[in-house]
Amino acid sequence: MVGADGTPNFAPPNPHYRSLMPTVLITGGAGFIGSHVVRRFVQRYPETTIVNVDALTYAGNLENLADVDQAANYRFERVDIRDAAAVQDLVDRYQPDGIIHLAAESHVDRSISDPMAFVETNVIGTVNLLNAARTAWAGAMEGKRFYHISTDEVFGALGAEGFFTEETPYSPNSPYSASKASSDHFVRAYHETYGLPIVISNCSNNYGPNHFPEKLIPLMIHNIIEGKLLPVYGDGKYTRDWLYVKDHASAIDTVYHNGRNGETYCIGGWNEWQNIDLVHLLCRTMDAKLGRPEGDCAKLITFVKDRPGHDKRYAIDATKIHRELGWKPSVTFEQGLSETIDWYLSNETWLRNVTSGAYLDYYSAQYGA
Ligand code: NAD
Ligand code: DAU
Repeated sequence: MVGADGTPNFAPPNPHYRSLMPTVLITGGAGFIGSHVVRRFVQRYPETTIVNVDALTYAGNLENLADVDQAANYRFERVDIRDAAAVQDLVDRYQPDGIIHLAAESHVDRSISDPMAFVETNVIGTVNLLNAARTAWAGAMEGKRFYHISTDEVFGALGAEGFFTEETPYSPNSPYSASKASSDHFVRAYHETYGLPIVISNCSNNYGPNHFPEKLIPLMIHNIIEGKLLPVYGDGKYTRDWLYVKDHASAIDTVYHNGRNGETYCIGGWNEWQNIDLVHLLCRTMDAKLGRPEGDCAKLITFVKDRPGHDKRYAIDATKIHRELGWKPSVTFEQGLSETIDWYLSNETWLRNVTSGAYLDYYSAQYGA
């Protein structure tokens, strides 16, 4: 079926539709992490209806799900979570057993130039979902679950030592992390005040296939392919803890099914890299894969103006999720990075489609090139 605006619409025709199968709504399912979560749930839980709820912003791309969108247990609903009435209607129609909430404005640099978009989607959109779940589940919260996907950025910046844990106080430094911190507080408050069955996880930096090339790793891969300069912010000595996206999807599966109500779980890769070392690793790996002389890609590295309020270091202590739920990362960084680069090299059409038009305007506004 095609909706009035020409986009695919697989909404059930009957407004009183109620699937006999358990139903899970996954918001942001057309984005980077969301698409890996949707694929995993569609394939692993054929007896569960998986509804991908996404507004298809610049970051949402149904091509990410081309391999599962014909599955019998998959539905797509184009809904903007900023629209409270549309969100309530959606939740009333599906009466989901669970909501896994990933939809968000996710890029720190965009939050610096347009903070309100982050307030509207990340804060108000989340509260719209909480209100809809609370109304739909009134008097019947047992067995329901609202799972909010958050970030380690809510904790602020670490010095050279130490790790973020579930006990680390919130100290967000960017409009993006402030909006995610605010949404985390609302989710927790709906648990305390209304007894909404919630769980939250705070994850470190993800990488992998389908990552939009505004973020460090896919941007560098794309620029290397194109022979463009590789813009490293400041001195490049900022540190991030990288986790392969499929490992994050497996952690989300674990927390959704086995996490304790009202709890928070930190998820990370035990895999810290300074940006400049990571970019050099990418350059060496891509020299080899592209058959370029050693050192060729690294000639493209250029140090550019720093990000305002740039957090020095993130690193997660993922002991709790390992101890309580048995989850740990399964993919080494070398393996994950190699698979990621191979994916970009063999998905040229995907890359070309997402780096045309509005992307070029964004790129020249951000990097002046
Ligand atoms: P993304 O930007 O790739 O995808 C976001 C998705 O949300 C897109 O499909 C977009 O269309 C959709 N969306 C945006 N605004 C919407 C709206 N108003 N209504 C409905 N849909 C909307 O993001 P991502 O990197 O996949 O991140 C997903 C979630 O995970 C976010 O909540 C983010 O804060 C969190 N997270 C991301 C990372 C990371 O490294 N990428 C790490 C930890 C946590
Ligand atoms: O930690 C989890 C967070 O990781 C998520 O919540 C965010 O949604 C996600 O975007 C990511 O945030 P970062 O700001 O850490 O990711 P980004 O890829 O934008 O930047 C990673 C590091 O690389 C950071 O120190 C800034 C630097 N950088 C980034 C870009 C885009 C550069 O040096 N040059 C660049 O061009």
